Amino acid sequence: MSNATSPLSLSSEQAKLFREALDKTAKKVAADELTFGVEFPQVTGPDGQWVRLPASLSAGYDGDAWSHGNWFCGFWVGLLLTSYLHTGEARFLEWARARMRLVEQRAQDPNTHDIGFIFDSSAVPGYHITGDEWFANIALEAADKLRARLVTTRDGAYLASWGPLSDPRGRSASAIDTMANLSLLYWAANHTDDGSYRQAADAHAEMTARAFVRDDDSTYHAVEYDVESGARKRGYTFQGAFDESAWSRGQAWAIYGYVNSARETGKRKYLDLAERLADYYLRRLDGRQVPPWDFDATGRDAEIKDTAAAAVVASALLEMARLHPDAHAAAKWRRHGLAMLEALCRDEFTKDGEHGLLHNSCYSKPHNIGVDGATMFGDFFFVEALCRAVHPGTLRPVQPPRIPIVEEGGGRRRHE
Ligand code: GLY
Repeated sequence: MSNATSPLSLSSEQAKLFREALDKTAKKVAADELTFGVEFPQVTGPDGQWVRLPASLSAGYDGDAWSHGNWFCGFWVGLLLTSYLHTGEARFLEWARARMRLVEQRAQDPNTHDIGFIFDSSAVPGYHITGDEWFANIALEAADKLRARLVTTRDGAYLASWGPLSDPRGRSASAIDTMANLSLLYWAANHTDDGSYRQAADAHAEMTARAFVRDDDSTYHAVEYDVESGARKRGYTFQGAFDESAWSRGQAWAIYGYVNSARETGKRKYLDLAERLADYYLRRLDGRQVPPWDFDATGRDAEIKDTAAAAVVASALLEMARLHPDAHAAAKWRRHGLAMLEALCRDEFTKDGEHGLLHNSCYSKPHNIGVDGATMFGDFFFVEALCRAVHPGTLRPVQPPRIPIVEEGGGRRRHE
């Protein structure tokens, strides 16, 4: 098993490809930063320009329509920070601090689980890189808001994803994306030694495994719970093709979340589940490196790809390889993670002068937003994966797995 922070042993071609991608990323980020004013990039539109939103835009219901608000703003701070890490140029850190001040207000936002995405990509790495408590305090305030979204039922507890908890629609709804937001709670538990953050995340992971994972190891995008009994009333989708379809980015968030949950709880069953979810993803990829936006899309829709899903899975698989106690399994996941990352660098990286990093990301096909362009989250998880490969341990604290990873029934697996 590789050491927590030792570079993955990359071929010289891989190392060159990944470093060049980070070089080009820093150039693009610097050029775009100067054009945004106080707004933040979201997705590139059909004209290739960034759609921009203020950081202050919270999620909420407008009548019956749900709007996700600006959950993208932290990712831009994250790209400034990774560019600082890669180049050592102080201007990136100055920009990141200035942007963090604009994002900071969202740490008080009680309306969305996406607070995890916003601050795990910005304040957490900001603190890890600088040691400045200002970043840590912002991340903790956000973690408190996320933990407060826990809804306790007779059959477990889950984090409600969307909307104020006083609204029955928000209270009963949970999304698979929340599995990726647990990272903020795990960070807070480690930073404060307050185990309640980890308990909340673990409770959510337990309940999600029961309610979201179908018999074939695909996942629902969203579940409506009975808030008293905890029973699943229905599985449904918001961004996938149809309620029973396999939305590829949902599967990616699930893989990512269960890898992190295995590392942070030491539960072997989470690692096993992450592997089953990843095996399902690979089966449906059928030799490709980038999935369609939904594995069950048909006709011309099936040609629409989602490079963001590929980036999230690549990052998750590199982490799975790092923590997997079995050397053969670790080698398998490392090989797949690196192949996905190589394909993104070679085939999907935007040209000089184009905005964003990855072509062919798909934010929401049903809403026709951010289809075929770059998305902020796709770009961030792509760069996170590059940093795992080239600059391990620099972006976020690298936790050793909370070994022993205990098998169900209390047995232990041997570690290499
Ligand atoms: N809300 C997360 C996603 O669009 O994947």
